[in-house]
Amino acid sequence: MRVKLAVTGGKGGTGKSTVATNLAALLARERRLVLADLDVEAPNDHILLGVGLENEEPVKIMLPFIDYKKCTRCGVCAEVCDTGAIVLTRDKTPYVVPRLCSGCRACYFACPEKAIIEGQRVIGYTYHTNVRLKTSSFDLVTGVLREGEEHTPPVVLAARRRAMKLANDVLLVDTSAGTASHVAIALEGSKLAVAVTEPTPLGLHDLEMILKILSEQGIEAWVVVNRWGIGSSGRMMDRLAETARNYGAVIKARIPYSRDIVDSYVKGVPIVEMLPDHEVSKVFYSLAKEILETI
Ligand SMILES: Nc1ncnc2c1ncn2[C@@H]1O[C@H](COP(=O)(O)OP(=O)(O)O)[C@@H](O)[C@H]1O
Ligand code: SF4
Ligand code: SF4
Ligand SMILES: [Mg+2]
Repeated sequence: MRVKLAVTGGKGGTGKSTVATNLAALLARERRLVLADLDVEAPNDHILLGVGLENEEPVKIMLPFIDYKKCTRCGVCAEVCDTGAIVLTRDKTPYVVPRLCSGCRACYFACPEKAIIEGQRVIGYTYHTNVRLKTSSFDLVTGVLREGEEHTPPVVLAARRRAMKLANDVLLVDTSAGTASHVAIALEGSKLAVAVTEPTPLGLHDLEMILKILSEQGIEAWVVVNRWGIGSSGRMMDRLAETARNYGAVIKARIPYSRDIVDSYVKGVPIVEMLPDHEVSKVFYSLAKEILETI
């Protein structure tokens, strides 16, 4: 992999995947590209690209099993477990609650009787799909957290690893919303991140949060203001620009609100392919061009 890029943003539904899939379609015309959908709780890049999830691989973490013949009911395992995944009955018999277990192995190492056996549990999957559009093709790697699971980082890591193995030119990651640790994991090592926001007070707040994370990680940030439209004030734009400036970032593009973007989502075709002359497509062309000139 020669360069890693990211598309990120403060909250769900801001337009991260719309930006990521359209940029992927354009960048892949010039470079060999792998797109990684690391929004493992709600991955939707494959829907925007009209493809399925293929080549499934499970993501497993350690799950402890207790050998009750050896267990002396000392309670040490429950003491060291900081996720509350080991509960003790009144007579101190330990039981593991799989959903709460992060697979950290602390109990395994702490048990003085070696009564804990290492098992495994599937918490999610990664997928690899080849995306063939009219004007470009690229690989899509998707991470999916199993329903009801809470331990996101191992799935993000597994999908990131699979995408990195495939990428020998450009890796573009699409992160989940917010600033949780798994977003930082997804962003790690990026040369440039496109932070997608909206011209609203909430968008302004979320932008500040994500720019803070990016500056802490030493990642150059470009801001894209999405859903620009009637009612968006010049004053809001000034405030977004000021926030960006405070973190050494710049506003690179403004995407108007457009029903055609929703239509392209429903059809599973990026707008740059569906309507190449659309004003939104033109915004993506110039953004992709600037990225190619930078990397
Ligand atoms: N500029 C826009 N105008 C109208 N709808 C948009 C725009 N940008 C995104 N959308 C729509 O908003 C929804 C969420 O977008 P998505 O890119 O999936 O967000 P995220 O990845 O940030 O959760 C989708 O239905 C998408 O089509
Ligand atoms: S630490 Fe080992 S011996 Fe002690 S309660 Fe847990 S499983 Fe049993
Ligand atoms: S592996 Fe870690 S999280 Fe799971 S039960 Fe043991 S100590 Fe708790
Ligand atoms: Mg998304």
